[in-house]
Amino acid sequence: MPLVTTTEMFKKAYDGGYAIGAFNVNNMEIVQGITEACKEEHAPVILQVSKGARAYANHTYLVKLVEAAVIECPEIPIALHLDHGPDFETCKSCIDGGFTSVMIDASSKPFAENIEITKKVVEYAHDHGVVVEAELGTLAGVEDEVKVSAADSSYTRPEDVQEFVERTGCDSLAIAIGTSHGAFKFTAAQCTRDANGKLVPPPLRFDILEEVSRRLPGFPIVLHGSSSVPQEFVDIVNRYGGKMPDAVGIPEEQLRKAAAMSVCKINIDSDLRLALTACIRQHFAEHPEHFDPRQYLKPGREAIKAMVEHKLVHVLGCNGKA
Ligand code: G3H
Ligand code: 13P
Ligand code: ZN
Repeated sequence: MPLVTTTEMFKKAYDGGYAIGAFNVNNMEIVQGITEACKEEHAPVILQVSKGARAYANHTYLVKLVEAAVIECPEIPIALHLDHGPDFETCKSCIDGGFTSVMIDASSKPFAENIEITKKVVEYAHDHGVVVEAELGTLAGVEDEVKVSAADSSYTRPEDVQEFVERTGCDSLAIAIGTSHGAFKFTAAQCTRDANGKLVPPPLRFDILEEVSRRLPGFPIVLHGSSSVPQEFVDIVNRYGGKMPDAVGIPEEQLRKAAAMSVCKINIDSDLRLALTACIRQHFAEHPEHFDPRQYLKPGREAIKAMVEHKLVHVLGCNGKA
């Protein structure tokens, strides 16, 4: 099947109490690792491209890699999504250039301005058969171009969501309930420690999610910053020369709970980076004589695939839904 929008995916996910994985792609091995996992698990998937990914790999290369995945995996629905579109022009460029979904992220702007920019993107996108994700509330953490300190982050105000959705016409809404971008989501001061000394992050604000869903029945909600930062990969990175002390993510059981509620799209990028980096660091330590990129990228791609399969089955619950 050709690239699809997220409309059908989200409707089924909402009704079925699961979420679709939205994975960031930057190169061929990442696209292959994700889509091979989704093909084996019969899972629909969203491949998303950030402004930084377009700057790194070039729009055309990324679109063609995703189109190749569509050809190789004809039995699963694949959507191509712009992640954190910073302005109308970037969204327009992706809409004109083959994407089936875009995010306009004007969440750092005042409410009225966020509505105005989002509405403009929605009008253009809908005219071209493309769906739009918007954001209300501000996540903490680090994206390529945006760094938001915990002090500047803010939870979504449930009392704003109905007006925002009605006035913009957006198709899905990303909200801030305590997730955060990157591999260092919380400071040690924000966490407690378990018996082994590992950091335990503060729980997500499910009360906000519930109130948002009550005000927007049937409407798909999106969670950004949802990597779990698996400790086994952090340990491998640190064992083989890396330095990621106190890296911490969102516990899987909390994401499972969100997926069973109104959350239909869960964004994961840092965990892909972590799996690839851990695998390559270990490979170089064990095979110092290797210099052919295929020797270390092949196991890196397999590590991504295994991790994505785990998430499809044990976190998102979207296996068997394609
Ligand atoms: O939320 C941001 C994604 O992780 C993309 O990161 O802007 O470094 O490509 P990036
Ligand atoms: P993570 O940094 O938690 O992987 O979040 C990715 C994301 O939200 C992409 O938009
Ligand atoms: Zn994000």
